[in-house]
Amino acid sequence: MASASRDGTPGRRRDNSNRGGSAAGRKGGGPAKRGGPGQHPSSRKPHRKGTSRVDVESGKIRLNNSKPARHQSADVEGDGATYVADGMRLQKVLAAAGVASRRGAEELIAAGRVEVDGEIVLEQGLRIDPDTAIIKVDGARVVIDETKQYLALNKPKGWHSTMSDDHGRPCIGDLVAERVMSGQRLFHVGRLDADTEGLLLLTNDGELAHRLMHPSYEVPKTYLATVRGEVGRGLGRQLRQGIELDDGPVAVDSFALLEVYQGESLLRLTLHEGRKHVVRRLLAEVGFPVIRLVRTDIGPVALGKQRPGSLRVLDKKEIGALYKGVGL
Ligand code: URA
Repeated sequence: MASASRDGTPGRRRDNSNRGGSAAGRKGGGPAKRGGPGQHPSSRKPHRKGTSRVDVESGKIRLNNSKPARHQSADVEGDGATYVADGMRLQKVLAAAGVASRRGAEELIAAGRVEVDGEIVLEQGLRIDPDTAIIKVDGARVVIDETKQYLALNKPKGWHSTMSDDHGRPCIGDLVAERVMSGQRLFHVGRLDADTEGLLLLTNDGELAHRLMHPSYEVPKTYLATVRGEVGRGLGRQLRQGIELDDGPVAVDSFALLEVYQGESLLRLTLHEGRKHVVRRLLAEVGFPVIRLVRTDIGPVALGKQRPGSLRVLDKKEIGALYKGVGL
């Protein structure tokens, strides 16, 4: 089904599909500027409605946002988009998704920060199909589907990363049992070793989960590792350059030595891969076996002060940033 709609004859929306790759590639994540550097988004030509008229005296465009009569609601092929006249107004969709109040959504639209199906929309009152339109604010996807669930779990040590366990061992399925019983079909995004604690994402959004787990999207994951031994200078450089493991080389994206105390060291490291036991194997290989391992971040989502065993619903910003991180 078509995803964008408008009242009356379709005008043009800005083609935003070739804005230097994607919004994710732009510093600050704001919408691409067209018409040369320094141009303010609001100075761009707005998305005009078919029923708009130029007020000759003021020189301004007057918009007619009234809902079309039923007989006008046939799909109309526009320039690269199909319009459905009986869709839902964009600012209402944004408000319903919790992005902003309706007034706030109108301001976002006016500032050129909202795009629908790859095109920046400057017009107020554009009608879209919320079931199919891909809406982004500042380049980050807005999730409209209310059946989608996105949760952060602080997996406690000793719990298995499975939804059920044949041997009756504690597993994360026990921690989300109520949600599963109430009909939510959640699955975990990747795994942590039973002995590893920390952040694990759960969702019923298959496409997002698939991409977050796929090595080609290179989602960074950060760990705090307490290791046996006093780490000296030079380990960070060695780990950044890469270490050969049984199943191939591995390198960290970033490394920090946080503390050295009584024969132990506390390290923070970030990697963008998820091979089994990779952090433990890496640190054992350089002579510092792991005593305790906690995952603190997955891409833009941080564990923060979340208690072990607790679940937290991700906020809109976090979900949008996850989508953006994997090119959705
Ligand atoms: N690396 C490990 O060694 N264990 C985990 O659980 C995750 C990454």
